[in-house]
Amino acid sequence: MYAISVFGLGKVGLTLASCLAAAGHRVLGVDIDTARVAAINDGSISTNEPGVMDRLRAGKDRFFATTSVEMAVHSTDLSIIIVPTPSNTMGGFSLRFILSACEKIGQAIKTKNGGHVVSVMSTIFPGSSEGWIIPHLEQASGRKIGHGLGYCYNPSFIALGSIVQGIERTEYVLIGEANTEAGDLCLDALLPVVAPGTPVSRMSLISAEITKLASNAYDTMRVSFANQLMAACTEINAQVDPITEAMGHHIGTRFFKGAVPFGGPCWPRDNKAFALLLESIGFSAKIPRSIDQFNQEHGKYLFRKIAERAPSESVIGIIGLAYKSGTEFTEEAWSLDLIQSLINERYQVIAWDPLASPKIAGMRMAASGNECIKEAAMTILIQPLKELSQLDWSLAQTKTIVDCWRCLNTTQQALIGNYIALGQTPAPSWKPPHIFIA
Ligand SMILES: NC(=O)c1ccc[n+]([C@@H]2O[C@H](COP(=O)([O-])OP(=O)(O)OC[C@H]3O[C@@H](n4cnc5c(N)ncnc54)[C@H](O)[C@@H]3O)[C@@H](O)[C@H]2O)c1
Repeated sequence: MYAISVFGLGKVGLTLASCLAAAGHRVLGVDIDTARVAAINDGSISTNEPGVMDRLRAGKDRFFATTSVEMAVHSTDLSIIIVPTPSNTMGGFSLRFILSACEKIGQAIKTKNGGHVVSVMSTIFPGSSEGWIIPHLEQASGRKIGHGLGYCYNPSFIALGSIVQGIERTEYVLIGEANTEAGDLCLDALLPVVAPGTPVSRMSLISAEITKLASNAYDTMRVSFANQLMAACTEINAQVDPITEAMGHHIGTRFFKGAVPFGGPCWPRDNKAFALLLESIGFSAKIPRSIDQFNQEHGKYLFRKIAERAPSESVIGIIGLAYKSGTEFTEEAWSLDLIQSLINERYQVIAWDPLASPKIAGMRMAASGNECIKEAAMTILIQPLKELSQLDWSLAQTKTIVDCWRCLNTTQQALIGNYIALGQTPAPSWKPPHIFIA
């Protein structure tokens, strides 16, 4: 087992630290937010992220937080950096938080006896490690890679609401390494955390940086392709789910279900950054740019489908505000665009989500899903929330429910006056024009 410092104890960093400590490592968490550090040490920290509180309890004798960079670096073998990398106006990712952390980590390494490995986990633009981060670390520490200093880029494939699962049940461990010894140490530290037999991909730094971005950009393509099929099926009396499920035998079912536009803190910005990478080397970025454009068009298409069925100026209910189920975050969530469009068209909006409660002028939050259904003439199910099974669907006896994920079962559907499942709603039969088949 190792002594590991984790820099940045936010949504991802705290979760990672809790997993490392629960797996048996000694962990020192570092954050510039003194209140957060104090809350971690006095046990008052709380999070909705499933599994984190359990792991904090399991590893409580091995996990402490501090603001002292020197102490963290001097008493650990490996520092993992998981600070924010906000998108900039170009569509790239700012390194300002990482470089500021590296400056201090490098200065602490300078006065440390023995070697030290730094591993970045934050999402960064390809080329950042070799172009910016390593030179910064080398200058601040007065050491060179392979000579008392090691460096890795080790991103994780996680989603808010299931970060623990994303770390511990990851499909594979991705390690970009500046030197083999650093890669070995990083991998050794992660092995007790991930499931036995998890595949490992080791590669150069820039290859790992591209893998992370390309992976998310590819996922947005799958979502968009399924969404396109869903829209087509809504128009031509076909059913999208049997189609994507059948195709899933060939291409896998993950992120392949037609529903609402993708959102959240990672996919939209990673897809844009992937486009920027391609353009920056003079290559066509038509695929990621079209995905971005289609994602917006799909949102407008769904709005039209809703608006054409909603009585004008009526009350519309929205269930599911977060960008996905199981989280409170609404960053780039399509629900917010939909609500704004409805308000602009003079509809009244009432909304409910078990975790998210964004403030939007003109929108009222309901105290429960049942209240939302009761007060609205038409309710849109934007996320397939597990809480939907506890709602009283008989309240919708004389109302319309639009189900974007086709997630209500037949018993629930039977209680609803007008149930519209986008992607399988009966539509006029379609016959290809003669010219298509001549
Ligand atoms: N949120 C996600 O779903 C997700 C998924 C994959 C990757 N990521 C990446 O993870 C990174 C972190 O995301 P997050 O959601 O945990 O961010 P966050 O904003 O929740 O937390 C970041 C933490 O870093 C701390 N911090 C800032 N500068 C610091 C410094 N110099 N030293 C120590 N601590 C410092 C902040 O005080 C904060 O507590 C980002 O690069 C993000 O792109 C996030």
